[in-house]
Order: sequence, then C-alpha cells, then structure tokens
Amino acid sequence: MKASVILAHPYKESFNHAVFNRVCGSLAECGVAVRSHDLYAEGFDPVLTGSELGREPSSDPLVRQYADEMMESDLLFFIHPNWWGQPPAMMKGYIDRIIRPPYAYDMPDDAPGGLPVTTMDGKYGIVYNTSNTAEERENNYFGDPLELIWKQCTFGFCGIEKFHRRMFRIVSDSTETERMQWLETVESDVVRIVSEAGKGRS
Ligand SMILES: Cc1cc2nc3c(=O)[nH]c(=O)nc-3n(C[C@H](O)[C@H](O)[C@H](O)COP(=O)(O)O)c2cc1C
Repeated sequence: MKASVILAHPYKESFNHAVFNRVCGSLAECGVAVRSHDLYAEGFDPVLTGSELGREPSSDPLVRQYADEMMESDLLFFIHPNWWGQPPAMMKGYIDRIIRPPYAYDMPDDAPGGLPVTTMDGKYGIVYNTSNTAEERENNYFGDPLELIWKQCTFGFCGIEKFHRRMFRIVSDSTETERMQWLETVESDVVRIVSEAGKGRS
C-alpha cells in the first residue's frame, strides 16, 4: 500500500507539522510506503501556468513528481490550517497544478454536460485541518466550507468516495495535553484507515 502525504503550513513548530509527522510515522509503522511533502519547505510554486490549462503534462519536474506519486498512491493525505474558510494558497496551488487532467481526471472535448471522466476511483482521501473557530459557529455561520471543498469539489469530482476529515479546534485555546490527545487520535485514525483500505483491496 502507498500513501501520499501533503502538508501546507509555513511554520516548522506548528501543530500542523506535528500532525504531518504523526501521520507519516504511523503510516510507516503500518508498513505503508510513504511519499511525504512539506510544500513550503520544498519551495513548491503554487501558481498554475498558462501551459497547464489544457491536458498536457506540466514541464515543472516537481509537479510531475507529485502527480506521479498521487496517482500511484492508495491513500491521499492533506494537512493544512483553515485560512479564511479555505486552504492556504500553497495547498490551493497543489490542487490547481496536480489534481488536473489528464491524470487526476479527464475532461474530453465531448464530455457530456461538463462532467469529468474520473480516474481516481477507489483511492481514499483524508484531510486534517486546524482552526480557531468553535464547531457550532463553523457549521452554522460559516457553513464549514472546507468540508465542501474537499469532499465534493475535489475528491468527489475525481471519483474519490472514501473520505475522512477531522478538524482540530480551537488550537489557540488548546492545552498541551489536548494536543497530545489529538495526535493519538490521528494515530488511531491512520491504523483504522490502513486496515479498511487493506480490506478494500483484497
Ligand atoms: C491568514 C489566516 C487566516 C485564518 N483564517 C481563519 C479562519 O477563517 N477560521 C479559523 O478558524 N481560523 C483562521 N485562522 C487561524 C488558523 O486556522 C490557526 O492559526 C491554525 O489553525 C492553528 O494551527 P497551527 O498552530 O498549526 O498554525 C487563520 C489564520 C491565518 C494566518
């Protein structure tokens, strides 16, 4: 089993980095081959170019590497904070430049009703987010936009139906003990997801 783990957070000491490290460590302990990328540390350029608007593969070697790894992976992990109800621009750039035709989905000229031909069916999409907003306000006032962005607009669009997302909140009010418990939750999620994905393959 293979996993791609993508992090977008600029500060090495962040809780997001702690989640990233725990995901990668837990996957390795489960015997999963892990390809992990800290987008800021690797200097990823999040801006989609004019030549990437169509179906031609990118000329950027890092984009091609990320895309190859995503397509080879059974489990796709994405870790980022809630910034204005959206992923940071760095993660948005990954979505724009990596999750595109013809590999992540296809959009032939004769596609009926603009519906994509999905190519990532069967993969498992997992998202960890952090925020400083109470759950009630996030859901009822803001409408939890990250749930829609990931579950439907991104994974669902590409044929990925197996989905797990968890939001850790409120980070600014959290104690060290709470954050340690959150990391334990990440570990048990990973063990469960690897087990589920393994059964799905047999
Ligand atoms: C540019 C920016 C925008 C933010 N927007 C939101 C927001 O819309 N909702 C929210 O709950 N927190 C927001 N935050 C707070 C971050 O989500 C919070 O600092 C982060 O999740 C904490 O995790 P960390 O310690 O790993 O950085 C924002 C922070 C920044 C820097």
